[in-house]
Amino acid sequence: MTAPKDFNDRMLSLGLARVSEAAAHASARLIGRGDEKAADQAAVNAMRDQLNMLDIKGVVVIGEGERDEAPMLYIGEEVGTGQGPEVDIALDPLEGTTLTAKDMPNALTVIAMAPRGTLLHAPDVYMEKLAIGPGYPTDVVSLEMTPAQRVRALAEARGVKDSDITVCILERPRHEDLVAEVRSTGAAIRLITDGDVAGVIHCAEAELTGIDMYMGSGGAPEGVLAASALKCMGGQMWGKLLFRNDDEKGRARKAGITDLDRIYARDELVTGDVIFAATGVTNGSIVAGVKREPGYLTTETILMRSKTGSVRRMIYRNPIR
Ligand code: FBP
Repeated sequence: MTAPKDFNDRMLSLGLARVSEAAAHASARLIGRGDEKAADQAAVNAMRDQLNMLDIKGVVVIGEGERDEAPMLYIGEEVGTGQGPEVDIALDPLEGTTLTAKDMPNALTVIAMAPRGTLLHAPDVYMEKLAIGPGYPTDVVSLEMTPAQRVRALAEARGVKDSDITVCILERPRHEDLVAEVRSTGAAIRLITDGDVAGVIHCAEAELTGIDMYMGSGGAPEGVLAASALKCMGGQMWGKLLFRNDDEKGRARKAGITDLDRIYARDELVTGDVIFAATGVTNGSIVAGVKREPGYLTTETILMRSKTGSVRRMIYRNPIR
């Protein structure tokens, strides 16, 4: 029997969960071992092996880097059995390599799949990001607003004081002014050392995580992954590519981007239906990390589909071989 050619997201999603689970399993033995590269490599190998078992005609559009920099899961690599629907794949086999190496919270394995041509081919540059959870009026905040204006607008929309808002920001020297301005409003800040895909996802579950808004710059590829997750969970996000030099602009042009100043809304980063899976590597506020028990490894995966807005949390226990 030949595999169906349409984007059967319902069936494909379960396969996607296996892919992120496999990557988490593989990196588990490297949690807390101080070796970022080895942890990443283990996740890459496992993710690629599992991905190649899926009946898809996949192309990696967000991956480990350009072909000359990354031997596996590079941008443009064809993945899957070649039988089945033509899809774009965005992945980060280990989002939070340092978090894993240091056994700090919220390291995830992450993958998204969408019909061919519907995920932004974001180059490996920075992206200015802004995200909020579901339930707010469209464009209640924007990248054009100052950080303080965003806090005020969100507080007003929620009917709370500015000091009741919590903003998540990557702790980086480049964010010193941003942090100072947000603090000047009285809002609280959750600083994270890495992992802005998780940072953005936190906004979609504000009651659980305590985070209302994500702001600041991080990897553009991670921006597309975060937008995929928010499209499934609900929430608004905007991203603008940031360029430090001509080489980075060249990367964007090579990826087919002509308007280098464009602000992308969530559904311009991800223009069609998308499925998203992430498995916890270290313990976190979205999913639990890999748990080792004698003879077993247990993982938790969040699996979501934008078409239905369904969010599944899956526990997987597997004997260690
Ligand atoms: P890696 O796991 O690939 O190292 O990425 C972690 C991360 O924190 C991302 O979540 C984030 O988008 C990016 O690095 C930020 O980049 P930088 O460390 O250069 O500020």
